[in-house]
Amino acid sequence: MTSQRPTSGSYERINYSLRPAKCIERKMMCEAFWRLFALGGADNYRYVGFGSTFFSDFLLFHRSLGIADMVSIEKDERNRERFMFNRPFSCIELVFGHSNKVLPTLSWDKPTILWLDYESKLNDLVLSDISFFCANAASRSVLVVTVNAEPDPVGRGSFDKLKMRRMRRLVKRVGEERVPPDISGADLAGWGLADICRTIIHNQIQQTLSQRNGVLATESKIQYRQLFNFHYADAMKMLTVGGLLYQHEQTSTVNHCDFGALSFVRSDDQSYLIQVPNLTLRELHHLDTYLPIDASQDLQELDTVAIPEEHVRRYAEVYRYFPTFAEIEL
Ligand SMILES: C[S@@+](CC[C@H](N)C(=O)[O-])C[C@H]1O[C@@H](n2cnc3c(N)ncnc32)[C@H](O)[C@@H]1O
Repeated sequence: MTSQRPTSGSYERINYSLRPAKCIERKMMCEAFWRLFALGGADNYRYVGFGSTFFSDFLLFHRSLGIADMVSIEKDERNRERFMFNRPFSCIELVFGHSNKVLPTLSWDKPTILWLDYESKLNDLVLSDISFFCANAASRSVLVVTVNAEPDPVGRGSFDKLKMRRMRRLVKRVGEERVPPDISGADLAGWGLADICRTIIHNQIQQTLSQRNGVLATESKIQYRQLFNFHYADAMKMLTVGGLLYQHEQTSTVNHCDFGALSFVRSDDQSYLIQVPNLTLRELHHLDTYLPIDASQDLQELDTVAIPEEHVRRYAEVYRYFPTFAEIEL
């Protein structure tokens, strides 16, 4: 008789390595992380993330950045064996348990890139992970948080009732005191929930840092510089927000990293929407021969065959990070 294994994780429904916008996001973040090494090489960094069964983030950050101190946290303890089997490199330590429980058991004296890549919506558990990290992370650490930002389903009823229902759900997840006072249920449609979640996350980071910095001398105070405010939707609308924690006295070195030179870096509430063009391999290769192009360049000057202009523009923006999936005979 075969034993019935409990099946629950999103990784059983979703192949995270095949989600094009997420793939682009990972590579963009990786490029930004390269610039971090002006603050200290890969040897000095640790990566902590949720590798799931595909470990796509771990594969990329180990291969591209050379980070060899890696911890993958996984809450689905019932499928330990499967996660262990898929661990691609021996330098990845797997720690089972919910991040709320696991993060306090790790040591925090080394600069760490932490990517809390949740598939769920922003809630008080997520906010408590964020607070924990901001209160404990070493200077030069990076925090990245991904949450589901799909507007809550509204069901039936009058428009006013539907808006109230969305607001009630948000309040239930994060607590009334965290919801900005100037918003209403009408602001939670489209990308509105993502924008508000960014504000709530940002406020949580600032609030935790102000407590941490309370008694510190000015030069030792920890600052937060936002680098990412991605919106994308491979299926559901998702928000990824994050940035660098560093001591005030390191400000000029951080400025040297010149993160602002990267077109996707966002330091405020203006998001960067990752839009994936839908092109054939043949079209990709054809367009590559014209790239890079200037954002202001007139596309009429290129032979874009019959590809819609919108897709050409989108591809020109993301082509260096674009995933190419092909079926191959191994
Ligand atoms: C979105 S996937 C991670 C994808 C991966 N980071 C990538 O780049 O493709 C999320 C994984 O983390 C696990 N997970 C989600 N929330 C968690 C939490 N709070 N603590 C520990 N594991 C969690 C899920 O079971 C799932 O395997």
